[in-house]
Amino acid sequence: MSSEPNPPSDAANEFQEQENPALRGIDYSESTNVNQIHESILREKVDPQEGEEPISLVLIGIIGVTLLFGGIYLGRYWGAFDGMIYDERARSVVAGAATGGGAGAAGAPAAAEDPVAVALKLGKRVYTANCASCHQGSGQGAAGQYPPLVASDYVLQSERRLIALLLHGAEGPMTVKGNVYNGAMPAWEKQLNDKQMAAVATYIRQEWGNNGGPITPEQVAAARVEFASQTKAYNEAQLLAIDGPIVVK
Ligand code: HEC
Repeated sequence: MSSEPNPPSDAANEFQEQENPALRGIDYSESTNVNQIHESILREKVDPQEGEEPISLVLIGIIGVTLLFGGIYLGRYWGAFDGMIYDERARSVVAGAATGGGAGAAGAPAAAEDPVAVALKLGKRVYTANCASCHQGSGQGAAGQYPPLVASDYVLQSERRLIALLLHGAEGPMTVKGNVYNGAMPAWEKQLNDKQMAAVATYIRQEWGNNGGPITPEQVAAARVEFASQTKAYNEAQLLAIDGPIVVK
């Protein structure tokens, strides 16, 4: 320092030591050393700010496992988010029954559930969700308003008539078990698919002591085609024309 020929100006004083001795005395009018200014910025750490703390790795792990589990669970059991699906894996059960069928095939694995039993369970769900509000859980209906399904000829006689009625509904006076009802039975053509309609038909034919045979999705599919020209609810005469009048036994 003492060797300095001319004392530097005040502004340049701080950075004098960094000056290139070869250039000493030459004024490039830039006595500030950029690197040195930046050094102090780099040295001083910025104060941490609230809300920017890193998340704990453990927490990230737990969230990851939860999402993974949720994804796998949904993938297996989402059941198309359909409240009328009794068993999300019903398809595999039915498929198992179809393939594993072969009546006592050597060591038939895990006795596949009887398709009718599966249909009855699905049918109960469909019934509870769509029919019980009017025909009641007991199938007895409500006097003067909703006809009973228990021991009803509409339920137990012609299968085609029953499916036609479920597809397109019914209105106007109708005699069931000796009593006249005059209400409106909704059409289920659009709300229920073949499998669901076959299941609910099978259910009402076999529940409450009813003794009708099962109805298959194929029968429903065929009836959709056969009765496609019906565009509004049936009246009693039209229903009785399907497979002849009801035979009171
Ligand atoms: C909004 C009330 C209502 C709902 C819901 C309803 N029904 Fe009906 N159902 C009726 C009425 C009313 C009649 C009689 C129609 C008439 O008077 O013409 C009837 C008639 C019937 C009949 C023929 C008569 C008999 O008692 O056997 C059957 C079978 C039947 N319904 C089954 C069903 C099934 C299965 C469902 C569900 C998929 C269902 N109904 C949902 C009101 C309803």
